[in-house]
Amino acid sequence: METVNNISGLGLLRQPSTVLFGTGRRHQIPQLVSDLGSSVLVCTDERMAGTPECSQLVAGLKARGVEVAIFSETQPDLPRENIMQVLAAFSSEEIEVVIGLGGGSCLDMAKTAALMLRYGGDVRDYYGENQVPGPALPILTVPTTAGTGAEISNFAVVFDAERGMKVGVGSAHILPRVAVIDPELTLSCPPGLTAATASDALSHLVESFTDRAKNPSSEELEHHLYVGKNVLTDVYCREGLRLMAQSMGAVATEPSNLQARSDVMFAAYCGGMALNTAGTAACHALQAPIGNLTHTAHGFGVGALLHYVMRFNLPAHIEAFAELSRAVGVFNPDLSELDNAKAGIIRVDELLDAVGCPADLAALGLEQSDIPQVASQALLATRLTANNPRALNQEFAEEILRRAHSGDRSWWPMA
Ligand SMILES: [Fe+2]
Repeated sequence: METVNNISGLGLLRQPSTVLFGTGRRHQIPQLVSDLGSSVLVCTDERMAGTPECSQLVAGLKARGVEVAIFSETQPDLPRENIMQVLAAFSSEEIEVVIGLGGGSCLDMAKTAALMLRYGGDVRDYYGENQVPGPALPILTVPTTAGTGAEISNFAVVFDAERGMKVGVGSAHILPRVAVIDPELTLSCPPGLTAATASDALSHLVESFTDRAKNPSSEELEHHLYVGKNVLTDVYCREGLRLMAQSMGAVATEPSNLQARSDVMFAAYCGGMALNTAGTAACHALQAPIGNLTHTAHGFGVGALLHYVMRFNLPAHIEAFAELSRAVGVFNPDLSELDNAKAGIIRVDELLDAVGCPADLAALGLEQSDIPQVASQALLATRLTANNPRALNQEFAEEILRRAHSGDRSWWPMA
C-alpha cells in the first residue's frame, strides 16, 4: 500500500495577516478597517442586517470617518447571479475594503465581491484554482457561525444554476486580509445551523488530519492549492479536535454556553486553517452531488458520510487515526495502534451523534438508486479525491455510499 506518511516534513499554511479572536473583539473592527481604507462595502444577509450587532458595526465605522455601503441580500449557497447583482450595484462606487458579516455564504460573497469589484467580468472567469489575476480588494471577515472556516480560507463556493452544481473560486488572491472571530456572534445561531456547522468543522479537522501526505514537487506547489496532510496543518488539527471533543456536545444542549461556543468557534477556525492548504477529501467529494440531489445542509451531508469514510480510510492510515484518538482524548496505551485508531473513530461518531447530525444518507432523503450516479460525480472532484488516503474508484465509492445509506457502522473493512 502506498505510504501516506509525511516523510518530507512539509508544512504549508495560508492565513490572513491579522486574526483577532475572542469575546467582544468585534468592537475592534472599525479601527482595523480604517487601517485598510476609507470606504467599505459590507456584504451580509437580510437577517444579520437587522441585528443590533450590524447597526453597531456601521455606526462604529462611520464614527471613524469610513464611508459605508451595505449589500444585505446575500442568498444561501451563494448563487452566481447574486454576485453579479453586487457588481452591478456597486461597480461605479469607490469601494476600498469589503467586509463579510455572516455565515459562509456572506464571507464567500465578500471574497467574490472584492474580486469582481477589482477585476470585473463574470465570476465564471475565475472558477477553478489560481484563475484570479492579482490581489482582490482587502477583505475583512466576521463569521457568525462556527463551522465553514470561510473566514480564513482562500476559496469561495458559488452555486451555478445553469451548470446545476456548486463550483469554486480558489486563489491566494482572495484570502481575507483580516479575520475577526467573536464567539458572542454565534450565541443567536439557531440549533439546526449550529449542529450542521459544527459537523462541518469536525469533518474538516478529521479529513485534514487523515489526508494523504502528498509531498508535492515545486511545480505542484505552484499550481495547486491543496498539498495534503502536513506538519503545520496537523498543529491546528490537534487543537481543533481537542476542543471539539470537549465542547461539541455542549453547543447543542446548552446553546447559551459561551465557553462551549468559544471552543467550537476556535475549533472551526483551526479546521479552516487546516483545510486551506491540506484540503478536504472523500467526504466533501461525496457530499457535493448528494447536496445537489437532496438540498440538505452541507454540514449534515459531510457529517453523515464521515462515519463511513473514516472506516473506509482506516486501513490506509492507521497511524493518523491512532493519533486522532489522542487528540479526542480516548487514547489507551494498553491497546494496539489499530484499536486506538478505532476508538478515535468511535469518539468522532459520538460527537456527531451528540449534536443530532443525521446518522445515514437515507435520513437525508437520498434514494438507493441514486448511489451509482453520486459515486461517479464524486469521482470527478479530483481536487478533493486526490487528498484521500485510500484511493477511490467507482466500486469503492458505491460501497461507502451503500454503507452510509443503511447506517452500517459495524463495517470495519480491515477487521
Ligand atoms: Fe465543509
